[in-house]
Amino acid sequence: MSDNAAVVEAVHEALSHVNDPEIRRPITELGMVDTVAVEGGRLSLTILLTVAGCPMRDTLQRDIAAAVDGVDGVTELELEFGVMSEQQRADLQVKLRGKAGAEPVIPFNLPESRTRVFAIASGKGGVGKSSMTVNLAAALAAKGLSVGVADADIYGHSIPRMLGVEGAPTQVEDMIMPPQAHGMKVISIGMFTPGNTAVVWRGPMLHRALQQFLADVYWGDLDVLLLDLPPGTGDIAISVAQLLPTAELVVVTTPQQAAAEVAERAGAIVTQTHQKLAGVVENMSWMELPDGSHIEPFGSGGGKTVAEALTRDVGTDVPLLGQIPLDPKLREGGDAGVPLVLSDPDCEASRAIRAIADQLAVRKVSLAGKPLGLSVV
Ligand SMILES: Nc1ncnc2c1ncn2[C@@H]1O[C@H](COP(=O)(O)OP(=O)(O)OP(=O)(O)O)[C@@H](O)[C@H]1O
Ligand SMILES: [Mg+2]
Repeated sequence: MSDNAAVVEAVHEALSHVNDPEIRRPITELGMVDTVAVEGGRLSLTILLTVAGCPMRDTLQRDIAAAVDGVDGVTELELEFGVMSEQQRADLQVKLRGKAGAEPVIPFNLPESRTRVFAIASGKGGVGKSSMTVNLAAALAAKGLSVGVADADIYGHSIPRMLGVEGAPTQVEDMIMPPQAHGMKVISIGMFTPGNTAVVWRGPMLHRALQQFLADVYWGDLDVLLLDLPPGTGDIAISVAQLLPTAELVVVTTPQQAAAEVAERAGAIVTQTHQKLAGVVENMSWMELPDGSHIEPFGSGGGKTVAEALTRDVGTDVPLLGQIPLDPKLREGGDAGVPLVLSDPDCEASRAIRAIADQLAVRKVSLAGKPLGLSVV
């Protein structure tokens, strides 16, 4: 082998450790490495981006430079970016999703899926569903899990702001690459509407949008997907039940009795949809005053009431997963795009959220390849 050939091979090896920031698979596997040439220590690389103006270009450039930096025989890097041809993109889609022309399927419904899907629901608005979604997601990601967040609140989307996601998702053929925030994959209808325009869609369109989130978005292999639902038991809640029959509901309530009764009704729809209830989260349970004493602005007992009522309704144990105090920093974190569990992991609210995340973090056992317990006669 000539010296150059050995260097080229070493460069390929180094590049096999560089992941595409969006797809999270090695660029060598994705057909993104176009040309590799070495002459007198000067490495000329052409890397093909999935789309022109790929927002991840800078990250890729940095990662590639770092990867080839240690390769013996390379003293200089000349990096050029090109764009995949239509054929190359179609090949990539087949590679990621299976055979060409296949109808997009919701990967979480496949028997081999090991992703646990949680839908965060409530009867009333403003009880903290979105805040719990982003903080639970961040807590799960911090544990090393691969986490996706889908904002299913089409009219009142707030996830992009709460996670500090800006910019639109990249599209490869008819696949949507979800932007990343704090190590999570995030998708929201807010990313497809210009500025702050209101979305005026009726039920069937909502259903279609949700189906797209789930089927057309390239999620990769997730441990957990969290869906932030709009309040109430409307179209989206019903669509979630239809599109994701294995999704487990997490019901958020405040301690207030009136809120608890509404939350209970929201939770009780699972008796009709046959979904599982993962449990109840009581948010805004108390507030610590500067002197260290606690007040309960919204009363007490709501979470326990809902958990007990739902346990009676569905006939299986529905646990109260935890109680989260009011903390102005939690709201500030939402406004700033950094979940509290990341910015202040040791405060009381963060610890309470992490304890709930621990209960949700158990990975589903894949059903693929398992005998179904049927005997052939
Ligand atoms: N534990 C908490 N401490 C302080 N502020 C909180 C807490 N939980 C939620 N909030 C704040 O309350 C407001 C409503 O929360 P959030 O948007 O998460 O509720 P939601 O149930 O998703 O609302 P919607 O029904 O409108 O989607 C937000 O301003 C949020 O920052
Ligand atoms: Mg919300």
